[in-house]
Amino acid sequence: MRSFDTAVPVEARAICAEFQGRQVLRDVSLSVGRREIFAIIGPSGSGKTTLLRHLLGLARPRQGSAFVFGHPVAELSRHELAGLRRRIGVAFQGGALLNSLSVVQNIELPLKQHTRLDAATIRIMTHIKLELLGLLDIDALMPAQLSGGMLKRASLARAVIMDPELLFVDEPSSGLDPVNAAALDDLLVELRDSLGMTIVVITHAMETALNIADKILLLDSGEVVTVGTPTELLQSRDARVQSMLQRRPVRAGSAADDYLNRLTAGT
Ligand SMILES: Nc1ncnc2c1ncn2[C@@H]1O[C@H](COP(=O)(O)OP(=O)(O)OP(=O)(O)O)[C@@H](O)[C@H]1O
Ligand SMILES: [Mg+2]
Repeated sequence: MRSFDTAVPVEARAICAEFQGRQVLRDVSLSVGRREIFAIIGPSGSGKTTLLRHLLGLARPRQGSAFVFGHPVAELSRHELAGLRRRIGVAFQGGALLNSLSVVQNIELPLKQHTRLDAATIRIMTHIKLELLGLLDIDALMPAQLSGGMLKRASLARAVIMDPELLFVDEPSSGLDPVNAAALDDLLVELRDSLGMTIVVITHAMETALNIADKILLLDSGEVVTVGTPTELLQSRDARVQSMLQRRPVRAGSAADDYLNRLTAGT
């Protein structure tokens, strides 16, 4: 039995980031508890992927800090960061499977690169994940032969092949039909429940956040609008929160109207 770190899996303290002088994250703070499904939701361009890059140590904040299992990611050496990343799975927006490798070759790649496991063990571990993610029938296919839903599942399978304690998923269900999107949401819950993972899911789909998240952080123009449980959000009196949750018409030209328009214009 693996011993899990008792440190807070993910924490951000007042992160500020900018591109070419334009601020894209302003004082973003968050804390993700163990075995929590934490959703970061916001309109397209609100800074979700940028925030993810900061949490992973792929970008350095202008101000503030990100911590993963208590480690300040921006201050770690390359070696330390590589060690930490081994405990983390990431399914990036867009999937990013290698086109020259089959589905099964893509999924087993992290095991070949980062472990000294023998071929038989790798085959068994890969088989378990293929089964969990409903990919057994298509493991020999090439990425170009997969549907959007299958690609998302395959990229998720690759992200969890090392049994990470912490999983980041950027837009797991964007571009999928409602049935496949809901199936992917269910898979995330199953990964948390069966493998005990902590999951940070980035999405612009409120259904996903409300259905599966323990906590939801709403991001707008790089700022945290609110953080709370689905129930707390549903009870919020904030017009921007309410307009998103209830999809009710809001007064034209109001802040809520503006926010809703940008949300629905998202990918
Ligand atoms: N490498 C970059 N150079 C310059 N600007 C960038 C870069 N990456 C992101 N941005 C800008 O930062 C802002 C936030 O982008 P980000 O990709 O984080 O948004 P997002 O919330 O993930 O959007 P989406 O829902 O479309 O994925 C956007 O205005 C974007 O144009
Ligand atoms: Mg994004």
